Amino acid sequence: KVVVLDFGAQYGQLIARRVRDLHVYSEIVPCDVTAAELAQTAPAAIILSGGPASVYADDAPTVDPAIFELGIPVLGFCYGQQIMAVTLGGEVGHTEAGEYGPAQLTRMGESRLLDATPGQQTVWMSHRDAVRRVPDGFVVTAATEACPVAAMECPERRLFATQFHPEVRHTPFGNAMLSNFLFGVCGLERTWTMDGIIDDAVAAIRSQVGSDRVILGLSGGVDSSVVAALCARAIGKQLTCVFVNHGLLRKDEPEQVEAVFSKQFDVDFVHVHAEQRYLELLAGVTDPEEKRRIIGEQFWKEFFAVAEQLDGVKFLAQGTIYPDIIESGVRKTGGKASTIKSHHNLIPFPDGVSFDLIEPLDHFFKDEVRALGTALGLPDPIVHRQPFPGPGLAIRIIGDVTAEKLGILKDADAIVREELDVYNERLFEETGERNGPHAVWQYFAVLPDIRSVGVMGDERTYARPVILRAVESSDAMTADWARLPYDVLARISSRIVAEVPGVNRVVYDITSKPPATIEWE
Ligand code: XMP
Repeated sequence: KVVVLDFGAQYGQLIARRVRDLHVYSEIVPCDVTAAELAQTAPAAIILSGGPASVYADDAPTVDPAIFELGIPVLGFCYGQQIMAVTLGGEVGHTEAGEYGPAQLTRMGESRLLDATPGQQTVWMSHRDAVRRVPDGFVVTAATEACPVAAMECPERRLFATQFHPEVRHTPFGNAMLSNFLFGVCGLERTWTMDGIIDDAVAAIRSQVGSDRVILGLSGGVDSSVVAALCARAIGKQLTCVFVNHGLLRKDEPEQVEAVFSKQFDVDFVHVHAEQRYLELLAGVTDPEEKRRIIGEQFWKEFFAVAEQLDGVKFLAQGTIYPDIIESGVRKTGGKASTIKSHHNLIPFPDGVSFDLIEPLDHFFKDEVRALGTALGLPDPIVHRQPFPGPGLAIRIIGDVTAEKLGILKDADAIVREELDVYNERLFEETGERNGPHAVWQYFAVLPDIRSVGVMGDERTYARPVILRAVESSDAMTADWARLPYDVLARISSRIVAEVPGVNRVVYDITSKPPATIEWE
């Protein structure tokens, strides 16, 4: 495997993804890992990520110098190059203007890293500091106008570094460089393939579970569905899937979950019809956080009520994915104990109840989870489901939740989804890119707690407005409202008013995040 030492979270993730895209398994570890800890896991290669700090800042992250003595090939990008340089006796200095965006790179002499890439090429730069003097034994292999040491290497010790970012798409030959390093320098093989991944995951589940029983809470979302599909392949009927239907999913979703897991997969499927209980619990509740608390607590009550009826359940399967783990910062060099403990704390086990956790997706990025889902035969609407909040439609009804409002929102939302699915498909045909920069990332209807006057036929109406929310985003941290064409907006509006009784107006939310959030509650 390849380990990526992370000097600033988002950089590490991107590099690990690129390596995996080349079918080599890679993992992220915090940059303060010691050489001894690394040596224990015997990685085939080490990559030092970029990071936001300046190497001479007081709290700048450092790297254990002994890492360069392990005999393992090391590749550093940006901050990774600078930290390699200062650790090995070179020098880093401030550049006046910094260098941001595309830059023209000129190669100099032989380079194993840049081999078979053009002598002049575009690379992506984003830095203020830069290496001024390379450590002894290193040669400079490329420069840009603003950056005399754009790449350096010491081929004898298999140490390589670039000031630019080969991991971003704006460096067109970045993948070629990464391939040179992984396959040329390190001699790695392309073993991280979908078939291999499934076989390994299935074998791991079987060996962990043995002949015991596993229980899993299905939410209808991607992660829990893929865990279920994977466990189904590994252990079949030893798996019980509990689907707590709180009545707050979107139109037709519960039926779809039931169809997939009760028919397509050979597992024990329990559909808990809790719709009425949730409605009673939520009656009159208007505070969003209170809604979330009630919905979350009730889920576990419903779940454990089923679990208690089952004999001999030893394991609880969960859809924890890799970014959850890196973000919570609990796992270092593959040690799992602390992770399991912290997750356990989140689950309100009743007295006397405990399960061991299995988390078969804890090494996968979201797009790998989706690819797994497809390979395991899950239908597209589940695999490519847009983000959907756990508390469901309850936080898209402003004010209290009633059966009538739920009905209206479900119908309006179904129209929004239908029309924007068509629109996204249209964008895909035009651009050839799915989830391209202007694809609508999350889209839904919101039902506010007001009424307005309208006129339909000859009649005055006093009915509900529906708010349309449609955003472009890549990670939900920031979002912009989608610049939908007027014809799409017009269709959504006229269809909702014509087809959903009780609605006489449609408005479009044109606020970005920040300052607004994606959801209304
Ligand atoms: P906001 O509204 O904070 O949402 O911009 C960011 C993303 O998170 C989703 N979201 C939730 N997901 N439980 C969840 O599982 C929640 O309580 C929740 N609230 C918001 C939201 O749909 C968006 O994708």
